[in-house]
Amino acid sequence: MVHFDPFAYEFHEDPYPTYRRLREEAPCYRNEELEFWALSRHADVLAGFKDHELYSNTAGVALEQTTDDVEGALFILGMDPPRQQKFRGLVSKAFTGRRVDQLESRIREIARMHARRAAEAGACDYVQDFAGKLPMDVISEMLGVPECDRDELRAQADLVMHREDGSREIPDESAGASMELILYYVDFVKERRRSTGDGLVDALLEATVDGERLTDEHVISFLFLMTIAGNETTTKLLANALYWLAKNPEQRGLVEADHARIPQWIEETLRYDNSSQILGRVATRDIEMHGETIREGGRVLLLVGAANRDPAVFDDPDRFDVTRDCTDFVSFGKGVHFCLGARLARLEGLIGLETALEFFPDYEIDEGALVRVHNTNVRGFAQMPIRFRT
Ligand code: HEM
Repeated sequence: MVHFDPFAYEFHEDPYPTYRRLREEAPCYRNEELEFWALSRHADVLAGFKDHELYSNTAGVALEQTTDDVEGALFILGMDPPRQQKFRGLVSKAFTGRRVDQLESRIREIARMHARRAAEAGACDYVQDFAGKLPMDVISEMLGVPECDRDELRAQADLVMHREDGSREIPDESAGASMELILYYVDFVKERRRSTGDGLVDALLEATVDGERLTDEHVISFLFLMTIAGNETTTKLLANALYWLAKNPEQRGLVEADHARIPQWIEETLRYDNSSQILGRVATRDIEMHGETIREGGRVLLLVGAANRDPAVFDDPDRFDVTRDCTDFVSFGKGVHFCLGARLARLEGLIGLETALEFFPDYEIDEGALVRVHNTNVRGFAQMPIRFRT
């Protein structure tokens, strides 16, 4: 009988064999000890994302209980409609196609600045020196976080996601880092209240929902969500993309010969090895599925990584293929919580990877020195030393 423990170290090294067995043997999997259900087939994961009345976000999206104040920590990601839709409507103004596209030249400047510095030595840690820096800088620009504070914020954001191998607890450093980030944003918001600006945060501080002003707590939880949701996932995308291209030389040949394929390389990386693997929900009623009954209040995990490799939807799903059609992947979720930053993530991916191919030509990854992140929600590398032609 298949056993699935999202906290197990081996699972994070290569989750896909476990996913395959779950889809085939236990599509509605029950882990008694950890008290969760897991859905692994594409059709079920998709239905889970779409049916927000049956599958609620109000218990948060992580398997481990991170806080009692889910909404305070996750903002819209920890709410259900209609409340979630009202707040989402306010912040989504910052993510319209036009607003995101306006960031393009600035993202390019930031990417080239970090790549130039990293490239000077002929070798670098691609995650620490490049992929980890770009998304945080972009979000900081959007939010108006001063440059001198960004390294520290990034270090705290990394720590928030850190988990000890095999442990089910939130480590003290991780909880401490969440607190540090929140305290930083408390001061940041106080400061913005005192001044008059026209940035995103200033607009939020003036915004109202049903005639009520947004509180400082709302704005702080939005800033926290941006830092966590937008930073880690995009960093992991940039490194997973480089990793899988290096592992598949014929695909690498295709992309290197024609940079117009970079967007497809991004889509296939998101499908093949998504940075966001598992999203939690809570059942609002009893659910009958595949001969099992998920009881009301039960924790349900939507296994994005498993759905994206479902042969019912993707031919030869375990093959990394930058020419395939990825339209049906669920890497950014679906329905009301569909990733607000998807367009921004794709733009950062495009610019980041174009820049990487330009500044790190013929890159080689030092596989022996790779370090993986072990976290139940995010999948990817914390360190990736590379060498390249100078
Ligand atoms: C490769 C990069 C990214 C991936 C794979 C990703 C993935 C996801 C997924 C799967 C969800 C849905 C969660 C759920 O249904 O519970 C989501 C939601 C969200 N993402 Fe992303 N994301 C990425 C980048 C970003 C960026 C760059 C930002 C913003 C700067 C962002 C902001 C958000 C927000 C605010 C939500 C919550 C939306 C809501 O609850 O209505 N994400 N993301």
